[in-house]
Amino acid sequence: MKKILLIPFLFFSLAAMGACSADEKTSDPETPDQPAGNSNILVAYFSATGNTQRVAERIAALTGADVYRIEAADPYAADPYDDSDRVQREAYGDLRPGVANLPVAETIARYDTIFVGSPCWWHQPAMVVCTFLEAYDLSGKTIVPFFTYGATTYLNESMQKIYRLTPESKHIPATLPEDLDPDDITTPGRPDDAGIDMPGSAGGVESWLKRIGI
Ligand SMILES: Cc1cc2nc3c(=O)[nH]c(=O)nc-3n(C[C@H](O)[C@H](O)[C@H](O)COP(=O)(O)O)c2cc1C
Repeated sequence: MKKILLIPFLFFSLAAMGACSADEKTSDPETPDQPAGNSNILVAYFSATGNTQRVAERIAALTGADVYRIEAADPYAADPYDDSDRVQREAYGDLRPGVANLPVAETIARYDTIFVGSPCWWHQPAMVVCTFLEAYDLSGKTIVPFFTYGATTYLNESMQKIYRLTPESKHIPATLPEDLDPDDITTPGRPDDAGIDMPGSAGGVESWLKRIGI
């Protein structure tokens, strides 16, 4: 059953990676463990296979934002599909895996706007992203979640999670489509993802930023 569900992700992931043109890929990626402190905008992201990283770096290039890559304390397999059981356990169990490189609170406090990027992993953000969000007081800050994914079917559940973890923050977009069953993150195929605007790949970032007013 799990294999059946993951086959489409594999297909779409490969297709999405193939859709990136060579100049969208970063040959010398800027992926610092800690943000540089040059901007009041931060792009904080987790990425296992580079798709979210490329989107994060494009956002930073266009906005001048600082970049912070979230690293799992217990790293995932080089091919994260080899860690699918672990990822599913973390997502469905709402676990909080450790982060190896959490910035100090004063560093995060400097930012007014935080882009938060993750792959959809078993219908949720990578749980290390949740660990990051819960480590700070983000009240009053503007949180802009972005996801890469194999199939958009679980985007709403993943977005809802970020919003629930940052109840005192402002969000872009301000509201999400109604989550048809907020307590169920395991049933695929529900039609509540429509209308969530995402860049999809690095090539879509510039127009996405304009659409969301940044
Ligand atoms: C273990 C695992 C679970 C995944 N679960 C989902 C999912 O629930 N929904 C989805 O759309 N894509 C899913 N994917 C596909 C990833 O979201 C997609 O490949 C993403 O772009 C990877 O981002 P990254 O390259 O930044 O790691 C999954 C991938 C892996 C490895």
